[in-house]
Amino acid sequence: MNKTEKPILKILSGETPERNPIWLMRQAGRYLPEYRDLRAKAKNFLNMCLTPEWATEITLQPIRRFDFDAAILFADILLVPMALGAGLEFREGEGPVLEKVSGEAFLDRLRYDDQKVQPVYETISRVKKELPEKTTLIGFCGAPWTVGCYMIDGNSKNDFVISKAWVKEKPDLLAKLISILIEASAEYLSHQIEAGAECLQIFESWGGLLQGDDFAKWVIAPTRELINRVKKKHPAIRIIGFPREATQNDYLKYAAESGVDAVSIDFNLPLSFAKEKLQPVKPLQGNLNPDLLVKGGNDMLRATEEILTTFGKKHIFNLGHGVVPQTPPEHVAELVKFVQNFRA
Ligand code: CP3
Repeated sequence: MNKTEKPILKILSGETPERNPIWLMRQAGRYLPEYRDLRAKAKNFLNMCLTPEWATEITLQPIRRFDFDAAILFADILLVPMALGAGLEFREGEGPVLEKVSGEAFLDRLRYDDQKVQPVYETISRVKKELPEKTTLIGFCGAPWTVGCYMIDGNSKNDFVISKAWVKEKPDLLAKLISILIEASAEYLSHQIEAGAECLQIFESWGGLLQGDDFAKWVIAPTRELINRVKKKHPAIRIIGFPREATQNDYLKYAAESGVDAVSIDFNLPLSFAKEKLQPVKPLQGNLNPDLLVKGGNDMLRATEEILTTFGKKHIFNLGHGVVPQTPPEHVAELVKFVQNFRA
């Protein structure tokens, strides 16, 4: 398939495809038995991300099972802090733990070493060779604020209280960290494109911690700067932004001002608002509640139909956050089939 005919890329360029494309955030992961098998062999999650043979296999697992329109690179948003030299560990049953930013001297010691994420680029080129022709390959990174939150607080257990305090008490230090992350992420994303990523998603998972002026300063402006840098090198690349749990006003400003080509919406955003106010600004992606994918059946299909009917064809079907581990794979198969057969 010609690149310009892939439905996701069409939507990201402002065109209307024949039907709604679908992929799911966290479509690779613990809900798949073949992922759990490999995970048990690999033992360490970071090893899995940084071993191209494994990361390629995991990226392709959901593509072999389901007729998704896109594959998302198997990696993690915390690889950028790792490449900057901040200690990173994924502890069993506990999630990620990062070495906390202790102060200015710590920031001065950070150096982005692109060699450390070379395996990610290798994974992209391997996946690209094996993907079905019609499947779009999505690269990604975390947005500076969200990645910064993990670096400042060290983990996500305390609702990022230290990061929120920095907004008020240490804005200069925060600005320094954010600018380090913008520079590193721009290089990381550019290299993903050069390795074969066809579009990108920027995950702002903790965007909802900030509102109004703070959101504009620490979410929108750094995202715009990151996108400007990437697009300066790669003007044709299309980028989806996911400012999870932002307020309605902030979603609107993000859509208009951050430079993204499409906005991924979380499952709490009301469909009426999304359709009437947000969709006229940018194409949307989302926003089925992941719990409905766990539940399956009519509840899942009715909600899916409502989303499809609301947004029409110029819309990338997805969840409002990632697939959770307890999701039955059969429900994913049913959802994909339903979306792909849907005609308004
Ligand atoms: O399939 C995909 O979506 C691609 C791979 C991917 C992963 N993480 C793999 C992963 C992507 C796009 C991410 C992004 C990511 N990582 C985000 C943004 C999206 C979001 O969920 O809001 C965030 C905040 C992270 C940081 C992170 N990584 C956390 C908080 C955790 C622990 C929570 C958990 O689900 O275990 C991870 C680990 C992680 N990243 C797993 C996977 C498949 C689970 C690891 C395991 O097998 O134990």
